[in-house]
Amino acid sequence: PLVSMRQLLDHAAENGYGLPAFNVNNLEQVQAIMEAAAEADSPVIMQASAGARKYAGEPFLRHLIDAAIEAYPQIPVVMHQDHGQSPAICMAAIRSGFSSVMMDGSLLEDGKTPSSYDYNVAVSREVVKFSHAIGITVEAELGCLGSLETGQAGEEDGLGAEGTLDHSMLLTDPDQAADFVRQTDCDALAIAIGTSHGAYKFSRKPTGDILAIDRVKAIHARIPNTHLVMHGSSSVPQELLEIIRQHGGDMKETYGVPVEEIQTAIGFGVRKINIDTDIRLAMTGAVRKFMAENPSKFDPREFLKPAREAAKLVCKARFEAFGCAGQA
Ligand code: G3H
Ligand code: 13P
Ligand code: NA
Ligand code: ZN
Repeated sequence: PLVSMRQLLDHAAENGYGLPAFNVNNLEQVQAIMEAAAEADSPVIMQASAGARKYAGEPFLRHLIDAAIEAYPQIPVVMHQDHGQSPAICMAAIRSGFSSVMMDGSLLEDGKTPSSYDYNVAVSREVVKFSHAIGITVEAELGCLGSLETGQAGEEDGLGAEGTLDHSMLLTDPDQAADFVRQTDCDALAIAIGTSHGAYKFSRKPTGDILAIDRVKAIHARIPNTHLVMHGSSSVPQELLEIIRQHGGDMKETYGVPVEEIQTAIGFGVRKINIDTDIRLAMTGAVRKFMAENPSKFDPREFLKPAREAAKLVCKARFEAFGCAGQA
């Protein structure tokens, strides 16, 4: 069934686990996530970005989720709007049947320019108002995702590739988080703790303290009833990069967030862990490998099947690592 995100995250908090939130754009990704969840007996959060809507179109996304719910009646599913850029976009997602929305007021409507605190409070509060009236969960965001290593914003966050962010913007302030939640009453809050979107997060191999865990602890202590969300949480597995490189791909040296660090963060209040890039890497590696090994084949099902299987393995591993396996 389609369930409320608040309900799922409350259960996760009571039982001390985290939930991966996977981005979806097409049939094979939805199937991969649902197959993995069924095998792991895990609840599911699927989320669609503005880019997903542009790629698949709203009716196709909506019916893909409906199909997932029909095919797996035993699995609780949340359909979430990722990075809603305005109250109007969140409203449209709700009309489309989503049970949860993110109002990302940390950026202006262009999805690039960091906004003022007052703007963020105002748009987030507006979305909470119309969403809570009809049982929809709201995630907001406070802070700028970006690398503490370089001050570079993530692929979609602020200032473009050339710009660098002020170091203080890269970590969410605990006092400001408390004020923000008091003013907006959001259910979940995405925080900046050193992660960034995309495949190129860290240029050196993480040595065990890549996340600002003290920040997670301090924020959780101030807003214990607000579920913390970590964006940019792909682990960028080196073995997936290797498969891509071995079959004609060109990817520079890069590292993601180690699964063990995410597990530590879950221990201190992180409940929703956003993952898109790892599924992209898994599918690309599988397609490249298939194409390289089978130059005469041309039936898309033959390369989409291993792509779907590779995505499923990533999803299942995260369900197990984050403690939500067996919780469906
Ligand atoms: O937050 C970004 C997600 O990875 C979605 O990416 O905007 O390319 O669909 P996208
Ligand atoms: P990754 O790019 O690390 O997969 O993060 C995805 C994300 O945060 C979507 O909102
Ligand atoms: Na932000
Ligand atoms: Zn994100």
